[in-house]
Amino acid sequence: MDEKLSPAAQMNSHGAFERVGCGEMMVSLMRKKALVINCSPVRSGATAAITGIIAEELEKRFETRRICIDDYEFTFCRGCRSCHETAKCILNDDVLTIIKEFEWADVIVAVAPSYWADVPGQFKCFIDRCTPWSNTHEPHAVIGEGKKGYAVTLRTGPNMKECERLINTIEHFYGHMEIERCGSLGLCSVSDRDEALARKDEITDFCEKIK
Ligand SMILES: Cc1cc2nc3c(=O)[nH]c(=O)nc-3n(C[C@H](O)[C@H](O)[C@H](O)COP(=O)(O)O)c2cc1C
Repeated sequence: MDEKLSPAAQMNSHGAFERVGCGEMMVSLMRKKALVINCSPVRSGATAAITGIIAEELEKRFETRRICIDDYEFTFCRGCRSCHETAKCILNDDVLTIIKEFEWADVIVAVAPSYWADVPGQFKCFIDRCTPWSNTHEPHAVIGEGKKGYAVTLRTGPNMKECERLINTIEHFYGHMEIERCGSLGLCSVSDRDEALARKDEITDFCEKIK
């Protein structure tokens, strides 16, 4: 039998095949999947730094994907409510691509900065566009059962109440998408990348609670 086709062979990090034990391969196939979302339109700011720390931590235990809301093009919900009758949106854009990532994931971690004391408009626009999947009406589309959701929020100001307000927005979204609300972290006094990186220990401690 060709060694490269052996079921006990897999690609290593250099792109070469190497033999692994069947047990090890099964564990790799059975790894849970985590999606970490940078809900800020800034791809290299404080939120991106926190998203990076979380993705690196989760990679030790999960198959992990990291996305930024700004990687996608989609428009505002028109409020037409046709999805209440059809479970489908009249618009056809990247919302479906993001939803495919949600369908793929077992665990979803949304990381959002405060913009005017709530999530950035780009992420709020995405939430509005998820109305076809909201359990507030029948019929509605579904992203799959048993998903766990976590919310991480940050802001420049010192008062935790504002972080909690963003957490409420994200958890309200999770609730209607039937994603279980499993935990949250609020980080005050974070206005740039360096201040985010300085909170690494707090963020990695939180990651240990993500199951
Ligand atoms: C448009 C805008 C609005 C903001 N509004 C608030 C606010 O209401 N409260 C707050 O504490 N910080 C606010 N901030 C600061 C951000 O929450 C903070 O700088 C965060 O670290 C930005 O992360 P980012 O660079 O990854 O987007 C705002 C920043 C921007 C750009």
